[in-house]
Amino acid sequence: MTRDKRIHLAWFLGHGFGVSDWRSPWHGTGGHDWMRPDFHQDFARSLERACFDYLIIEDSSFVCDAYGQSSEIYLSNAMTVPKHDPAVLASVMLLATRRLGIVPTLTVTEYPPFLLARLVATLDGLSAGRAGWNIVTGSSDRAAQNYGKDAQPPHDLRYDMAQEMTDLVKQLWGSWEPDSIRADIAAGVFAEHTKVNPVDFSGTYFTSRGPLNTAPSPQGRPALVQAGGSARGREFAARNADSVIASANTPEMMKEYRDDVRARAAAAGRDPDEIKVLFLVTPYLGETTAEARDRKARHDDEAWQHPERGLAGMGFITDIDFSGYDVDTPLGQLRTTFSTNGHQSSLALRLGKGEQTTLREVAAGGYAFEPVGTPAEVADQVDAAMAEAGGDGLLFNVSPLNRRTIAEITDGLVPELQARGLSRTRYDHPHLRGNLRAF
Ligand SMILES: Cc1cc2nc3c(=O)[nH]c(=O)nc-3n(C[C@H](O)[C@H](O)[C@H](O)COP(=O)(O)O)c2cc1C
Repeated sequence: MTRDKRIHLAWFLGHGFGVSDWRSPWHGTGGHDWMRPDFHQDFARSLERACFDYLIIEDSSFVCDAYGQSSEIYLSNAMTVPKHDPAVLASVMLLATRRLGIVPTLTVTEYPPFLLARLVATLDGLSAGRAGWNIVTGSSDRAAQNYGKDAQPPHDLRYDMAQEMTDLVKQLWGSWEPDSIRADIAAGVFAEHTKVNPVDFSGTYFTSRGPLNTAPSPQGRPALVQAGGSARGREFAARNADSVIASANTPEMMKEYRDDVRARAAAAGRDPDEIKVLFLVTPYLGETTAEARDRKARHDDEAWQHPERGLAGMGFITDIDFSGYDVDTPLGQLRTTFSTNGHQSSLALRLGKGEQTTLREVAAGGYAFEPVGTPAEVADQVDAAMAEAGGDGLLFNVSPLNRRTIAEITDGLVPELQARGLSRTRYDHPHLRGNLRAF
């Protein structure tokens, strides 16, 4: 019998319900109709055709003004803004699909637990078991200021809050026993009141009586996704997540990350196989090897010519204003200058390059796995990387996002992965968590 070497595929919709592509040669009408459902629904159907496990919708709840202490670069480039609410987009995409999992990002410091539990349970019910929650703790003080606070709580404390909130949300999801709805016309009983119980949760940060006022959701507990990069973040992910998403640009880094999360999960009493660790991948595809290499070279050149865009992106996740530094200064002279209460591991990954690396090189990116070639060549590179890392799968992050770049993955690369037995050709289960656990 041949080994099942299938990997899970997911996609990171990196700008929430926002502008994906409004200016590349393949932008279509992306600058004008991104607020309408059509593009997003076509996108979701494409992922389903390619049997992706799930799609994550990013969120961050602020207009960034980190770079140069101005929102100009973000607004003029439609960088992270404008966008809308991920949970609303999730329902629009779920209704256009039948098997794909959809996972909106919902921030612990922004939602009351009851509201969050009800929202995700509703998505799960409407989609017959395909909803998840990407648990994030928030990062920017600007977002905190939109919710009546001056600043984000300290980084590790946010993870303590996330743990308590996750515990409470899970209890609320469990507040209706699975067989609580009888809908028994003869007996005149719809729901069995003895099977719908308050949770009476009183924690350090959150309090809620319960029970939830939605029905038990099809998955019982919707799928939990998390990206924890710091030690505290990995600990949280290992304890809670059905799927962990991470950036690592080499198979060695992937292996280290996955082994660590799995060890932490085992130490916490979980079966590590319950957790699917997916790594960010940005493939550069072409019909020929030369075309793919040329696309990558053009992308790198653009990033080199415009370091301000990469640095503005780093400001978005760290609240740091990188505008005042000479971009050609070696990191060795700068590194200790920067610290963040935001995405700590992402900053460490970027500043962890050699002493002689300049800020311009840091801004140029390269923090995901970036295979280059024809669909067949990229599939071979994926095969080799996953075999070496023991990886559970990949999280695609593609920019610009338009109908062409989506089709390159779903109709170019995925058939090559399927031909190698690397990805599924049909869904194993009606539920998202069932598909994640299928192999
Ligand atoms: C692939 C990926 C997607 C993420 N998506 C979001 C997001 O949508 N919103 C958000 O606030 N943080 C997001 N994060 C940040 C993580 O939730 C986390 O804060 C970050 O990885 C830093 O982890 P650390 O603070 O444990 O180092 C994402 C991280 C990764 C790697």
